[in-house]
Amino acid sequence: MSELQTFLTENRSKFEADLCELLKIPSVSTDSRYKADVRDAAAWLHRQFDQLGFETKIFETPGHPIVYAESPAVPGAPVALVYGHYDVQPPEPLEEWKSPPFEPTIRDGNIYARGATDDKGQMLTHVKSVEAWIKSVGKLPLQVKFLIEGEEEIGSEHLTPFIQEHDDLLECDVVVISDTSQFGPGQPAITYGLKGIAYYELKLFGPKQDLHSGTFGGAVTNPANTLSKMLSSLIDEKGKVQVPGFYDDVDPLTDEERNQFGSLDFSDADFMRSIGVEGLTGESGYSTLERRWTRPTFDINGITSGYQGEGAKTVLPAKASAKFSFRLVPHQDPAQLSESLKTHLEALVPPGIRMELIDFHGAPGFVVPLDSPYMTAAAAAIEKGFGRPPVFIREGGSIPIVTSFVEQLGVDVLLLGWGLNDDNTHSPNEKFCLADYHRGIKASAALWHTLSKITPNQA
Ligand code: BES
Ligand code: ZN
Repeated sequence: MSELQTFLTENRSKFEADLCELLKIPSVSTDSRYKADVRDAAAWLHRQFDQLGFETKIFETPGHPIVYAESPAVPGAPVALVYGHYDVQPPEPLEEWKSPPFEPTIRDGNIYARGATDDKGQMLTHVKSVEAWIKSVGKLPLQVKFLIEGEEEIGSEHLTPFIQEHDDLLECDVVVISDTSQFGPGQPAITYGLKGIAYYELKLFGPKQDLHSGTFGGAVTNPANTLSKMLSSLIDEKGKVQVPGFYDDVDPLTDEERNQFGSLDFSDADFMRSIGVEGLTGESGYSTLERRWTRPTFDINGITSGYQGEGAKTVLPAKASAKFSFRLVPHQDPAQLSESLKTHLEALVPPGIRMELIDFHGAPGFVVPLDSPYMTAAAAAIEKGFGRPPVFIREGGSIPIVTSFVEQLGVDVLLLGWGLNDDNTHSPNEKFCLADYHRGIKASAALWHTLSKITPNQA
């Protein structure tokens, strides 16, 4: 193992340079203006795998390409499948960035760029760790397959059928994903549950064009007024979602989990300071960690209507719209929610308004079992990379495809997050701590060793 450790130490600058190359490619999946860049990012990864001598292929989809690669088979050892994504969120608002989002810049030991942590930096730790094994030891101790997609940030629409159609190719014993966070700086974590999501856009149409609000107001239904009412009907002042049936399948929190979260070193005051607020609200009866990790939520993600320019304009807008999403917990069904949501909203539409509800994407939440040999192997590898054993947490984000891995491939999933909650994911000045990048590579390199000691099917 010592040649491997030496390789990791001696190649830190090269690993950082490789990350910079990938971060320079603006692979924004949701915006068609970046379509060619998204392809470039896929091609960059394909070259990485090709240079390692892996079998690798780019699969085209009606959306963005999927990159697949595999190292040679190792009989008797388990097969690990690394899943990650090379697409990123849009960088806007650009004026808030201290350095341009696609010109990676190192400040105070962090690399700043869109995708630095979500997910290019985290995903690349596994590519670099296999590179280290191949170039120092000569081969990996188990077969590692890679499935890196370009549509995670928009709901993984084309990966779901891909997994169904390629279950032979993707056959594995365990899935490894690094697209989550540590519990805090210096405290690594294994995430055993993520929330699901159901994302919508509500559009309301009123008069055929904007009107003078003095001449017409009070007699003509205002779409912006209606939108505010309809949105506020979705959640009450105690933080309870009001769509009928919403909580029917939600499991109550167990005492065991409550105690476990309570034992973690977390303070509301520090949390508030880190995000710059002086108070918190949420579903009554639950702590901040319980709300963030285990309870379903509702958030408006964007609202548009009427005059937004400088100064005042007395206008009754012709239309109003909002994008919003629910975060779901295990057993809540996004399709069922869509139906009850539509019925609930339709009943609130007043005369003079036409409603359209767009259902963007949905995915269920999940928790994975903690008592598997793969979890134990992952915990040992993390301790090796980070110098401290991980704590076990849940998180509130979503990785839509994970449920398909659990249900269709029937395998264990390891969510090993190297990021931090203050990495500014999806917001300006996204960053990744370079020390965590290297610790992640080291933990990943150790993981291939600890996993290889497990006899498959005994798990
Ligand atoms: N890396 C995140 C998932 C995540 C976020 C896990 C926070 C744990 C904590 C992932 O890239 C992501 O942002 N997913 C989207 C999925 C959605 C667009 C379907 C999300 O959670 O909003
Ligand atoms: Zn993301």
